[in-house]
Parts: sequence; C-alpha cells; structure tokens
Amino acid sequence: MQTSRWQKFETSIFSKMSQLAQTHQAVNLAQGFPDFDGPQAIKDAAIQAIRGDKNQYAPAYGVLELRKALAERQKDSYSLDYNPQDEVTVFSGATEAIFCTIVGLCQAGDEIISFEPFYDSYPAAAMLSGAVMKTVALKAPNWTFDIEDLKAQITPKTKLLLLNTPNNPTGKVFSRKELLAIAQLAKDHNFFVMTDEVYEELIYSPARHMPIATVPGMKDRTILVSSTSKTFSMTGWKIGYAFAPAFLTKAIRIPHQYTVFCSATPLQYGMIAALKLSYDYYHVLREEYSERRAALFKLLVEMGFECHLPEGTYFIVANHKNLLDIPDTEFAVWLTKVVGVACIPVSSFYADPEVAAKTSRYVRFGFCKDIATIEAAGAKFRANLKNGLNSYHHE
Ligand SMILES: Cc1ncc(COP(=O)(O)O)c(C=O)c1O
Repeated sequence: MQTSRWQKFETSIFSKMSQLAQTHQAVNLAQGFPDFDGPQAIKDAAIQAIRGDKNQYAPAYGVLELRKALAERQKDSYSLDYNPQDEVTVFSGATEAIFCTIVGLCQAGDEIISFEPFYDSYPAAAMLSGAVMKTVALKAPNWTFDIEDLKAQITPKTKLLLLNTPNNPTGKVFSRKELLAIAQLAKDHNFFVMTDEVYEELIYSPARHMPIATVPGMKDRTILVSSTSKTFSMTGWKIGYAFAPAFLTKAIRIPHQYTVFCSATPLQYGMIAALKLSYDYYHVLREEYSERRAALFKLLVEMGFECHLPEGTYFIVANHKNLLDIPDTEFAVWLTKVVGVACIPVSSFYADPEVAAKTSRYVRFGFCKDIATIEAAGAKFRANLKNGLNSYHHE
C-alpha cells in the first residue's frame, strides 16, 4: 500500500547490506564509515565541555567560536572569506545542511540538476521540496560528463545544481576545467550551486580539491556544504556546516530552525579543538588513507575486478563483469553470502535503481577500514572466490 510519498525511499541499501553482512559474518566493506576513531584531543574537548556544563541548547546557527574557527580554516585553505555571523552555519551533519539547502531554496515549479550517481539524500530532499530533480550522467569508467548533457537539462526553471566533489561513490574529483565550465553555465543561466565537499581532505596527489566557490563570480551563488564526519573520522557526531552568502544563509537557516534547531553543544566544542589540530593531522590522514587505498586496490585487481585508483574519497568502484556478468544488485548479495565480503551496488546511487541495475556492473567497496579489515577481506576472497564462482557456473 502506498502510505506516503516517502514510501519509495523506505529501504536503504546501506542497512540492507550491513544486515546481510552480519547474517553471513561477512567483512563489511559496504559501510561508508571508518572502523577506527578520530583524535583523542577532540574527544577530550567534548568531555571537558560536558563536565564544564556546556549541556544546554547551543545558538541555533552554531557555537560562535566554532563558526569563527570554520571561517578561519576556509580562509587558510582556499582564500575564501566568510563572515561567521551571517555566512557560516553549523548543521547536524552535511546531510542536514543538504536537506535545509534544498528545501530552503526550492519549491514546486523549480528544477534541480544533479550529477548521477549521487548521494542518496539528494532525491529525498528534492522530493520533499516539491521541485523536480533532473540528472546528468557521470560516465564510467572515468566518470566524465558531457557538458552538452548538462546544457540540455538547463531550463528557465533551473534553480539549483548539486555538485559533489570528491564524489561518492565514484571517487571522481571534478577538474578545474570541468568546474569552470559548470560555473560559466551557472552564471549564464542564473542558478545556484550547492557543493557537497565532505571528502575535501580525502584527496590523493596529484589530484587537488577546488571549491567551485573560488571561481570568480561563484561565491555569491554557491552554498558550500562540508562536514567534520570524514575529516576527523567522527561520523557519529554529525557536525556539518555550510558557507554561503548572507541572503542564501538566511534561507537555509529557516528549515534548520524549525527542525533540528541546534546541533549537540558539547560536540561543537569538541570540533573547535579539531580545527586547532596542526596541518600534520591532515597530512597523516591522507598518508594512512593512501595506504588503505593501495591495499584495497591491489586486492581487487588481484581478484579480477576492473577498477581505477580513485582520486578522492574512501571508496573504490569496481567492475565485476569479468567475475560474474550479472546485475550489480545480485552480485553484491552473492559476494556477501558466498565469498563473505559486503559491498554496495552502484545502481543504488541512481534515480531509478531498478533500471540502473540492469546494466550496472559496478559495486562500491569502502577503504575507510583498518588495514587488518582489508586483510580479512583478502582472506575471505582467497578462501571462497574461486569455489564460489565454480559452483555459480555449475548450478
Ligand atoms: C557525499 C556525501 N555527502 C554527505 C554525507 C553525509 O555527511 P554527514 O555525516 O556530515 O551527514 C556523506 C556521508 O556518507 C556523503 O557520502
């Protein structure tokens, strides 16, 4: 029975695959969060805030000291100037910032464009806003897009473009050339851009992260969303934030005020300490992730997957057609049950997952895991893959 417009978003593939992993005692490379914790100094600062009686509602838009620290970091990293008072807002995770941006700016009659595959909260927020969401394909295997495809989706109703770089699930980092082309269209056709930059620190040389807000003329039409979740390996704290010019900030703060109102006070104090960590922290983070990326990539190639080293994020998207040429949804379930390694079918990041699954032969593995977890996945692959494939073909 169709009980509400939310029905089609009912089952999240992430919980489904994690549950399946648990049932079959599979190594879970499906989940998109680290199996290790962030720095002790951040935890200590939050504990100190709790003990120091910082336990009541925070200011709705975030503890001012945190907003100041975020603005300083944005200036240091990208030479982007934002006023902590009316251009920086703390949200309960980037997910809430994305939601408030979409429902705060869009309504029925508007159109939103997103590159596809995309993070699964985008269509849900678009649905609630009443706007129509259109998509532009990032094409495998390099996840490039055709600027003509983007132009074809733009109409006078286009209000907002959603851009996620570094991109989940593909690991693509949009190039300067691509960003300049997108920016030109935004200026020519007068639409806003929401950039989801939660993986901004998980970027592997020689790739470089460039916020589209740094392109001349773009800062005034860009809502830049990011988060402490991935940068500080603290996904459970859900401290995200957005930078935007004052008139856009005003619009995105309204839904925040009437839903979440404010994010957890002591955790915001913890994140002030996070932003005081030295640049070494980011260097070590990338070094460690580079090692994990290399270990997972080597394993997947050895097992017969076709894949590229991702330029950013902590995901590798792997083509499984040389192993089993079946829909990615079936392959992900098979791999979890028979081999004992869980992953996510990439078709679940598409507007119509059922249609996408018919042709998609891509699954996403996460390397936000200790080397020991990646090695455990290797042991499962070596023990079970060959026999599993043999019995599949003989069934
Ligand atoms: C592209 C993208 N955006 C946003 C988020 C959510 O970030 P947060 O934990 O800050 O809500 C994720 C988390 O997986 C993500 O992959």
